[in-house]
Amino acid sequence: MSKPITMPILPVEAYTSQEWFDQEQRVIFGHSWQFAGLAEDLQDPGDYITVQCGHQNLIVVKGSDQHLRAFHNLCRHRGTQLLRAVGKKQQALTCPYHDWTYNLSGQLISVPQKEKEFPDLEIDKICLHKASVDVWRGMLWVHPNPDAEPITAWFDACWEHLGPHDPNRLVEYPNIYYEKTIRANWKIVAENFIDVYHLAHLHSSTLRMYDHAKAQFSFIGDHYVFWEPLTAKYRDNLGQLIPFKRIQEMTDEHLGAYASWLFPNLGLSEGESSWGTFHAIPMAPDMTKVIVRSKFEPMTNWEYTKQQWKSGMSWHGIMGNKTKYGNKPDANSEDPMDWNDLMEEDVYVCEQQQKSLNNPLFGVAATANHGESTVRNFQKIIQRWMEIPSKNT
Ligand code: FES
Repeated sequence: MSKPITMPILPVEAYTSQEWFDQEQRVIFGHSWQFAGLAEDLQDPGDYITVQCGHQNLIVVKGSDQHLRAFHNLCRHRGTQLLRAVGKKQQALTCPYHDWTYNLSGQLISVPQKEKEFPDLEIDKICLHKASVDVWRGMLWVHPNPDAEPITAWFDACWEHLGPHDPNRLVEYPNIYYEKTIRANWKIVAENFIDVYHLAHLHSSTLRMYDHAKAQFSFIGDHYVFWEPLTAKYRDNLGQLIPFKRIQEMTDEHLGAYASWLFPNLGLSEGESSWGTFHAIPMAPDMTKVIVRSKFEPMTNWEYTKQQWKSGMSWHGIMGNKTKYGNKPDANSEDPMDWNDLMEEDVYVCEQQQKSLNNPLFGVAATANHGESTVRNFQKIIQRWMEIPSKNT
């Protein structure tokens, strides 16, 4: 008889200690491409966002020549962070401390009291430190290293395993943005996203439109790719049940759910009627901010509202309206399992798992051969990144 496959591959401290967290920030988040938003977030010259990449904060700004540039958010005078989270149509980038000012290409252009205080300073020789920025599949990506490998190389091998969606032509509607702080380590959140074993159990009601037994998944490099088809019942009634307009590229052979995890911390949910990002941002060893953004086929706001209402009615009629435990959904219940909310189910188990980590009895008896191989693989990838000597700086 074969022995059960156990974890952990990573120690408990990987999910609880500040020291481990800081090291991850240095060696993983400071040395990999990071999701920064959607391409349309920066539309006009002077629009900018700031992004944390490990211990380094970066600025991405659209120049007056329409080019995107990335810089370290670090004033060259005495190192103050220049900018706050987001800004629109700035003419220049001015440090709040002593008003040193840079143009949108990062060049220092003005120093107050220059002749009196800095007679020898050669302004035209001072620029903000450069970083890398690129757009890939309608998403903005940044890297602290100005000579980072191209984004297409980073995602090259997994590209063909993602959904066929074209995010550039899909639309983000108002009131669909979701942000939540989860009291769990970012890897718990990631592992939950890629845990195939839990789909048929935790989400037995909320994901019952997909045929989990036919899920196909693997790691390609450090990125995880997943697809599962619709159930026959959902597929046969798709016209009535689909929540929004069917995504044009989701032809019959693609129908189902693509759910990928782009290393280190971006999930993609690409379904029959929506496309979305699931950004898990590490805030502390036991805290992760999750931001979910979703896009749909173009439609009017009225069509969008109407489809939400119509699909809800049909859904309950055809698929039944029961929670995981067979109860009627109740948004006011104290038990999150009664809410019939996919996201809240995941939040609940992530926080419950984090709570147990400091218990001296915490352990893992066995992990599923197939459905949890994904979690084991993810932990091995983390372990490998943490052991790369050249990055331990
Ligand atoms: Fe930026 Fe002084 S630190 S102007």
